[in-house]
Amino acid sequence: MTYAFQAEGLVKRFGQTTALAGVDLAARPGTVLGVLGPNGAGKTTAVRILATLLRPDGGRASVAGYDVVRQPDEVRRRIGLTGQYASVDEDLTGMENLVLIGRLLDLSRSEARVRAAALLEQFDLTEAGGRRAGTYSGGMRRRLDLAASLVARPEVVYLDEPTTGLDPAKRDDVWTLVREQVAEGVTVLLTTQYLEEADALADEIAVIDHGSVIAHGTPHELKAVVGGQTLEVRPLNPADVPAVATLLEGVTGHRPDSPARGVLSVPVDGDAALAPVVALLAEQRIEVTELSLRLPSLDEVFYSLTGERADREAQGSGERDGSPGGEPGRPGTQDRNEPDARGPREESPRGHLSGAAQARTPQATNRKEAPAA
Ligand SMILES: Nc1ncnc2c1ncn2[C@@H]1O[C@H](COP(=O)(O)OP(=O)(O)OP(=O)(O)O)[C@@H](O)[C@H]1O
Ligand SMILES: [Mg+2]
Repeated sequence: MTYAFQAEGLVKRFGQTTALAGVDLAARPGTVLGVLGPNGAGKTTAVRILATLLRPDGGRASVAGYDVVRQPDEVRRRIGLTGQYASVDEDLTGMENLVLIGRLLDLSRSEARVRAAALLEQFDLTEAGGRRAGTYSGGMRRRLDLAASLVARPEVVYLDEPTTGLDPAKRDDVWTLVREQVAEGVTVLLTTQYLEEADALADEIAVIDHGSVIAHGTPHELKAVVGGQTLEVRPLNPADVPAVATLLEGVTGHRPDSPARGVLSVPVDGDAALAPVVALLAEQRIEVTELSLRLPSLDEVFYSLTGERADREAQGSGERDGSPGGEPGRPGTQDRNEPDARGPREESPRGHLSGAAQARTPQATNRKEAPAA
């Protein structure tokens, strides 16, 4: 099979830290590979190697069959990269940023302007195109950044956490842009900390942690292992909790958990349970302040796959803003440098979903059957 990009057994060490401990990643042309993992998992390191910005200590990687170490020029000609931290020049306008990149790519002045204008249009930045990028909102910068990675019409685009820190509407915009690129035949490697995002965009998902792929499969296979969706209900009046619990158990056949005070949550296979729950709540005149259907969080995914919580140091993206990816000694990443902290994880089953699932998913298998190997 020809892959648009492929990494085999990638190893990368930074001093005592093993950022990648033998990672395999691949995507067929015109598909999206989602790389899901918590802070410090090794996502950016893998992207930087695939983008020829970093040499691996072991293993190999190629883009369109060209080796990233031996044929970096061929690789660079075919890729676009949107780094984790927006890299637009704030002193230039949106238009100037894109024209600059076009000129660096050897386009003529007029070709660069035409390409820049087309991208500004596509990314809904035409109006803002004449303004300094320093005045853009976070979502606009992200779009400009994404546009910048597409000036060269790359075959393969790496998007390193393209939506971290964006509000849901802006996130949806980025998702749409990614889908448009894929529809045009572009292959995408997308790193993310959100299962929801990987589910929405990826054809296949690799879950990485501590530099190893701990699960790999389609979103469907992954969800079958880590559990499907969760229906959460918060009655307005806490006194209604027992009645809501009975109601939910009646509809879904599962006794609800209470993840937080006054909230009930129950696993569901899809959105079929939603309508009867809403109808019964109305019938019993129970008012709710929250009724939501959600996919497992990254933490829950990791718990299902490894039996351990993903030790994420920063819950929100804000804490990480401005700290370049992979800086040694960032809060929380130090743990990972300690041999003891790494010890137990190294025994984690690696590779495909079924292996990881059988060994470590009591919780997931309660909910759903593990997928066939
Ligand atoms: N240049 C570097 N020097 C030293 N250590 C590094 C360097 N780059 C990465 N690391 C370490 O390698 C590990 C993987 O980092 P990486 O940036 O690839 O993780 P990540 O999955 O992208 O995390 P995040 O979600 O926070 O962006 C971390 O422990 C990090 O501290
Ligand atoms: Mg990163």
